Amino acid sequence: MSAPNKSYDPVEVEALKPENIERMRDEALAAFAAADSLEALQEAKTAHAGGTSPLALANREIGALPPQAKAEAGKRVGQARGAVNKALAARQAELEAERDARVLVEESVDVTLPHDRVPAGARHPLTTMMERVADVFVSMGYEIAEGPEVEAEWFNFDALNFGPDHPARQMQDTFFVNGPESAKGESGVVLRTHTSPVQARALLDREPPVYVVCPGRVYRTDELDATHTPVFHQIELLAVDEGLTMADLKGTLDHMVRALFGADMKTRLRPNFFPFTEPSAEMDMLCYVCKGESIGNPDRPCRTCSSEGWIELGGCGMVNPRVLTACGVDPEKYSGFAFGFGIERMLMFRHNVEDMRDMVEGDVRFTRPFGMEI
Ligand code: PHE
Repeated sequence: MSAPNKSYDPVEVEALKPENIERMRDEALAAFAAADSLEALQEAKTAHAGGTSPLALANREIGALPPQAKAEAGKRVGQARGAVNKALAARQAELEAERDARVLVEESVDVTLPHDRVPAGARHPLTTMMERVADVFVSMGYEIAEGPEVEAEWFNFDALNFGPDHPARQMQDTFFVNGPESAKGESGVVLRTHTSPVQARALLDREPPVYVVCPGRVYRTDELDATHTPVFHQIELLAVDEGLTMADLKGTLDHMVRALFGADMKTRLRPNFFPFTEPSAEMDMLCYVCKGESIGNPDRPCRTCSSEGWIELGGCGMVNPRVLTACGVDPEKYSGFAFGFGIERMLMFRHNVEDMRDMVEGDVRFTRPFGMEI
């Protein structure tokens, strides 16, 4: 092996001359000092301390020098780079501190700004009314049952003992999705016209005793006016057990109106007809405003019940044994009662709403007075 050639006289490398290294260092320091933002500093860093900066390039030249010159040049370049890096870090810290101080001022929160310009949403009064009614029964041990709004004609009519020629099936008040004629013997498909098909579904799904309540949306081909809407809500109740009688139905109705309208409320039944209940009745409740005092009393007229003393609520009756049979329940062993009524109507007379259209138009001026129940 040959010894290092100590007598080698190197050609001085231009870039490594002390004055050049000093100039590079000073230019770097000046550029950092002149950088007035973190972005500008980043650019200066690339130019003066990056991998292709003059100092880095000079550093590369060191390797080619003989050992003695190498040590000297290495020290010179190393010191210069050290000074550059230190100045860079100092300027970086300075600019970051400036930025943080600025952000604290610019991004401070003005706690005096109004915070309640966007009102919180609330549930629609129809929803809260429906849940209030359902809660009365849930607290008595009833279960909430649900069924589809697009319903088989069989559930909406056949299972409920509506004969094939029953007027309710005709186009005049049923929305047909799949008309019966197009279905070639299969059940047609309708938008349910009442919540009663859930009676049949509940009975097919469960073994008696069955105690269910079904709130939901229903559809009829009515024009939207002050007292009609083609989409409305009903709540249905069904109880099937051994030994249920009309007295149980009456007691349940009385309990419901007392729970919803006050302890001195009561109901009355008037004979009526529904294919799926037998006997059937129309149920009325005492007018909760005049409590019946307006009847035959011209000195005390009542707007809520038009001085009739009673308000019609909906339909009810004992479940027709044919419905029980169609749903696989033995009518010799079990009996049941059912009722159903419209939520819109109840909301109207409970809160003196005069026009049903107000309930569907979505104007918050209508819903706001009902409160912000979420
Ligand atoms: N489904 C009937 C209607 O929409 C109401 C009803 C329900 C009647 C239950 C009797 C029993 O008019």
